[in-house]
Amino acid sequence: MARWLLNCWYMAGWSHEVGENGLARRIIDRPVFVYRLGDGSIAAVLDRCPHRFAPLSRGSRDGDNLVCGYHGLAFSPEGKCIRNPFSERIPAGTDIEGFAAIERHDIVWIWAGEREKADPSLIPDFSFVPDTPFSRTIHGYTAMKANYEYGTDNLLDLSHIEFVHKGTFAGQGVIFAGEHSVRAEGDTLHSDWFMPGIPPPSVAYGRFAPDSLVDHWLEMRWNAPASMRLAVGVCSHCQARETGFELPQAHILTPASEHETHYFWSSTRYHDLDSIETDHMLANLFGEAFDLEDKPMIEAAYDNVRGKDFWSQKPASLGIDQGGTRARRMLEKLIRDESASSAA
Ligand code: FES
Ligand SMILES: [Fe+2]
Repeated sequence: MARWLLNCWYMAGWSHEVGENGLARRIIDRPVFVYRLGDGSIAAVLDRCPHRFAPLSRGSRDGDNLVCGYHGLAFSPEGKCIRNPFSERIPAGTDIEGFAAIERHDIVWIWAGEREKADPSLIPDFSFVPDTPFSRTIHGYTAMKANYEYGTDNLLDLSHIEFVHKGTFAGQGVIFAGEHSVRAEGDTLHSDWFMPGIPPPSVAYGRFAPDSLVDHWLEMRWNAPASMRLAVGVCSHCQARETGFELPQAHILTPASEHETHYFWSSTRYHDLDSIETDHMLANLFGEAFDLEDKPMIEAAYDNVRGKDFWSQKPASLGIDQGGTRARRMLEKLIRDESASSAA
């Protein structure tokens, strides 16, 4: 079976990462160079010159075109070779792959499959990410030495917060009082926890009396290949959700290679909008949780099965892991269907 789903959107980076020099990043084992055109839109090409394979990200810009820094071949934003400094003639085989790319919700997405099939309506909704007069988002990035599906397992099974996140957002046992449900709606998967009638969790401190009871939800939405949104919500026990609050987070995984993953995360809030201290406090909290708690556990677990087929290792099932299991099955089916239709 093919290794990657191609006809889907992969997050290449946050918008702010694509500065004047562009952004070079490995995605599904291919070097990709993302840069901005004169009109501010995004272009993405294979970051590998067809002559002697220099990264085009090390070259220069001629308007919207890229000029290789090694021997000067020039390429259009679509990857077409448009100039050979040694001859009028452009030899065959000098075009490079150009990817459909789009910037939406402060995220740069690239379509790994055929350009003509790129469908922006398939980009999952992350409209909460850009700052508004009523919201502020902090963004982060963690490089993980593990296959991205192990990151998906981690995110779709939040029971691990009771064990892995003892130093940050430990659940104080609330997960054990929770109900977990997994459901698919078309190609979207939901893995949700609901904890009714519990003392206010740490995310709600200061908003509810410490001796009150609240309902708390942690709802993860997944879309292939590994783009997730988490909603963290709290309201007074048995009250309508709208009476409480909900904080959305992005958790988006992009495979760099089979064994390495780009983990992009964000957290949006609707209070203390101008507080730099709150930005720092949250960035430190999330940085600690993802870099110092999740990452070492995921990497160490992956190290035990690196290079092996997941199912062949006969993973035990605890029920709480259904989200990850179903995401793996859905992704496998999408890859299988894609391979079958391209073979047909
Ligand atoms: S490697 Fe790019 S022109 Fe030679
Ligand atoms: Fe975690």
